[in-house]
Amino acid sequence: RTDQYILGVETSCDETAVAIIKNGREIVANVVASQIESHKRFGGVVPEIASRHHVEQLTIVFEEAMKQANLDFNDLSAITVTEGPGLVGALLTGINAAKALAFSHGIPLIGVHHIAGHIYANRLIKELEFPLLALVVSGGHTELVYMKEHANFEVIGETLDDAAGEAYDKVARTLGLPYPGGPHIDRLAHEGKPTIDLPRAWLGAGSFDFSFSGLKSAVINTLHNAKQKGITLEAKDVAASFQASVIDVLVTKTSQAVDKYPVKQLLLAGGVAANKGLRTALEKEFSSRDGLELIIPPLSLCTDNAAMIAAIGSILYDKGIRSDLALNANPGLEL
Ligand code: KG4
Ligand code: ZN
Repeated sequence: RTDQYILGVETSCDETAVAIIKNGREIVANVVASQIESHKRFGGVVPEIASRHHVEQLTIVFEEAMKQANLDFNDLSAITVTEGPGLVGALLTGINAAKALAFSHGIPLIGVHHIAGHIYANRLIKELEFPLLALVVSGGHTELVYMKEHANFEVIGETLDDAAGEAYDKVARTLGLPYPGGPHIDRLAHEGKPTIDLPRAWLGAGSFDFSFSGLKSAVINTLHNAKQKGITLEAKDVAASFQASVIDVLVTKTSQAVDKYPVKQLLLAGGVAANKGLRTALEKEFSSRDGLELIIPPLSLCTDNAAMIAAIGSILYDKGIRSDLALNANPGLEL
């Protein structure tokens, strides 16, 4: 076999996704079935509903991916699947499907970390060069990750409470916007002005950790106080002020991290990486720094997908890493 084809499976939250990549970097199939519509009326992801949808969708999504790639199961070098973190029931649906296929077709199985996948989405755009820093901003994680080599992740800072995406979703909910709120706040923020003074959690000099729960509470309190005084705040200005605070902290801390850890590349990863304000701010801050290459994946590779799972899977496959059929969901898996 000359070409390497890796199939990825992702079911950690509310997207049922299967993708196939060729030789580590080329997407030959990428199918994502979103469940957002089913969770919207509950204002967030309902775990039991997520698992049921995954079970319903998996076979369809698998077949679609195989059709897109025009491949046979025998062409696959490995099947890689998100092992964690995520919702345990949701993870199990993907893991069991991956195991069944791996076992029945005699294909190697590899369990991978969801956040490693988000970081490796960047390798589908550009070849990675080390050392590098990745700013990971998703619904469940906010982290600065330093990498000296492939599949070697050193978390130099992380959120002490809410993740950035979580704060977006909670503030959106307070403003009466639908789930997931991130894209709605992003859109509103561009229509409004950051007129409201909101806190920024620096957590002391030299800290690369994050905290967004204070900011979230400040937004809620500001709205409450205004209401009591009979003042109407425009949602677009609240959104703009909130987004300004989040971006200020993310960009400033990333800039300090780049100063402390000289790196060749800076990668952006995770669902919040789809944020237009953040993308623009990072480009402004980093695109003209000497010797530093900023990589920002397209929107479709920022939010949950399986191409990123296959991308980290390809590296682990080359390193000879394999999982056995005892592979289990690990909701709290460490990077
Ligand atoms: O990485 P992801 O798809 O799932 C997790 O692994 O958590 O991230 C989902 C998060 C949600 O909180 C969603 O509101 C946020 O990403 N998000 C955004 C935007 N698009 C998605 N947040 C801010 N601005 C956006 N444009
Ligand atoms: Zn994710």
